[in-house]
Amino acid sequence: MDLAFYIQANINKINQTLESLVPESRLPHSALFQAARYALLSPGKRIRPLLTLATVETLKGNVNHALEPACAIELIHTYSLIHDDLPCMDNDDFRRGKPALHKVFPEGHALLTGDFLLTHAFYVLANISYLTSEQRLMLIAILANHAGGNGMIGGQVIDLQANNDLITFDILQTMHKMKTGELITAAVEFGAVIANVSLEHRKILKEFGQNIGIAFQIIDDILDHSQKDQKKSKFAPQDYVSFLGVNGAQEAAKKILQSAEEKLQMIPYDTKTLKELSHFMVYRTY
Ligand code: IPE
Ligand code: IPE
Ligand code: MG
Ligand code: MG
Repeated sequence: MDLAFYIQANINKINQTLESLVPESRLPHSALFQAARYALLSPGKRIRPLLTLATVETLKGNVNHALEPACAIELIHTYSLIHDDLPCMDNDDFRRGKPALHKVFPEGHALLTGDFLLTHAFYVLANISYLTSEQRLMLIAILANHAGGNGMIGGQVIDLQANNDLITFDILQTMHKMKTGELITAAVEFGAVIANVSLEHRKILKEFGQNIGIAFQIIDDILDHSQKDQKKSKFAPQDYVSFLGVNGAQEAAKKILQSAEEKLQMIPYDTKTLKELSHFMVYRTY
């Protein structure tokens, strides 16, 4: 199947699921749901849920059982973007081609919407009836770990520090591994847990996720450089491009993509779709 067609078909399913997980409300605090839907249903690339679905499909698991867990990761991702854009963080006015949430709703509201999406992700996971309680617990632990203090949030803290202090290339790599790589890795690990594969295969897939997570962030840096006039936060970046230049950063991403592909060759499954999806993540133009 054509990759673009495959991606669009799965994005449609992901969007439908997101919509049902955060419905409109008529309660006195309905503005919270309205704000959450504004951020969540804006046109994101849905890379993380797509990865979970593709991993489950590759591992011959039940793809229908992957939709809600995949969307729980997208809830966490969207919360992280809402908070990332706030004036106390990157102070960016636009997200996903639209005004950032705090430009449409009061800032306190945007903060609480992020809090809501974060909390809701774990509520969704805890209540998935068609997974075993052991699977649910594993998903909750994986997500809490990857999104937490030694994961995505820790990476965001290094990023804030890098606004004031010069950082080394080593720290830059750690920052990227944490702030972006961790959640992408969780998306792949989710697939392995839902499809119930062996720990050995889960470990290989985790390494695949770590590789493509970093490659994805390198490309994000390159794309940010080409659009820096539109982004307030990108005036004095310490990123892959500032360390390696555009060509060097591109080469680094391609090399990491190659390592990712080598990991895929180590598992006894047809990994064509995962390979194509990781290519898409690195050769994307948006
Ligand atoms: C943006 O993530 C922030 C990073 C962690 C690189 P995405 O590029 O996946 O953003 P959306 O979801 O498509 O908007
Ligand atoms: C965002 O990183 C990472 C998280 C929200 C965890 P950036 O600040 O580099 O991403 P953009 O450029 O705002 O999407
Ligand atoms: Mg940031
Ligand atoms: Mg930002």
